[in-house]
Amino acid sequence: MAYNLLKGKKGIIFGALDENSIAWKTAERVHEEGGTFVLTNAPIAMRMGQINALAEKTGSQIIPADATSEEDLQKLVDQSMEILGGKLDFVLHSIGMSINVRKGRHYTDQKYDWTEKGWDVSALSFHKVMQTLYKADALNPWGSIVALTYMAAQRTFPDYNDMADNKAYLESIARSFGYFFGKEKKVRVNTISQSPTPTTAGQGVKGFDGFISYAEKMSPLGNATAQDCADYTVSLFSDLTRKVTMQNLFHDGGFSSTGVSQEIIDEFSE
Ligand code: NAI
Repeated sequence: MAYNLLKGKKGIIFGALDENSIAWKTAERVHEEGGTFVLTNAPIAMRMGQINALAEKTGSQIIPADATSEEDLQKLVDQSMEILGGKLDFVLHSIGMSINVRKGRHYTDQKYDWTEKGWDVSALSFHKVMQTLYKADALNPWGSIVALTYMAAQRTFPDYNDMADNKAYLESIARSFGYFFGKEKKVRVNTISQSPTPTTAGQGVKGFDGFISYAEKMSPLGNATAQDCADYTVSLFSDLTRKVTMQNLFHDGGFSSTGVSQEIIDEFSE
């Protein structure tokens, strides 16, 4: 159901790779709610992904940008304001990648140039995106910036590897930059801590299938899907959440507050 929550609002959506991507579902929902936006992804992802279909469906333009490149980000922000005809109201950072995870390198045996690259892509890029927006004064008052994160930032999930550290850093940036964006620009900054979700990035984590079933059984409401996450993000982009900022918001069907569920107890009872 659409409520016109984002009518007249403009923004940038990072990270739609294919139709499973959380950013893809979010772009579709934002479009349904009347928002207009520029889609962006790393140049290499453009070749692999199906982003053209999404652009066509949502009447959007695509601007390739490596989120670790300040130069690319500057062009992206300038061109987006030109295309959309003014300042922005929302930005979604939906970017994550660990080479150590991808290459099966154990947490106790990191290759540090891979660790640094993963940190740059998954965490520091959020600072780079916000610094570019901030310096260009690219957001309207009461704008909203959202990044996606995972609970491994607070609790250990052994196979999440160096992404756990990247997410802790990302969440900290949301608080630190959220202060200045709030004070100076009346813009809010939050992270959504999402349930495990079957996407390209999600399925790259070792043992993902067992893990997503476990989370499903632990969560009183079941796992939040990518579609659910898109709905939640729309609410954070809307005017209904104007005083929510510098928060890490768990969107996980109750997983993070559950010690153990009956289903899990039953599995271990004789
Ligand atoms: P996805 O694989 O569809 O999206 C990840 C995106 O990051 C891709 O579009 C990829 O091209 C982009 N990316 C990688 N390097 C980049 C770069 N240098 N510049 C610009 N973009 C780059 O997977 P998903 O799951 O939709 O991931 C989105 C976000 O959600 C990530 O931050 C991820 O960590 C987070 N998340 C995912 C969960 C899951 O289980 N799938 C759970 C909690 C959070």
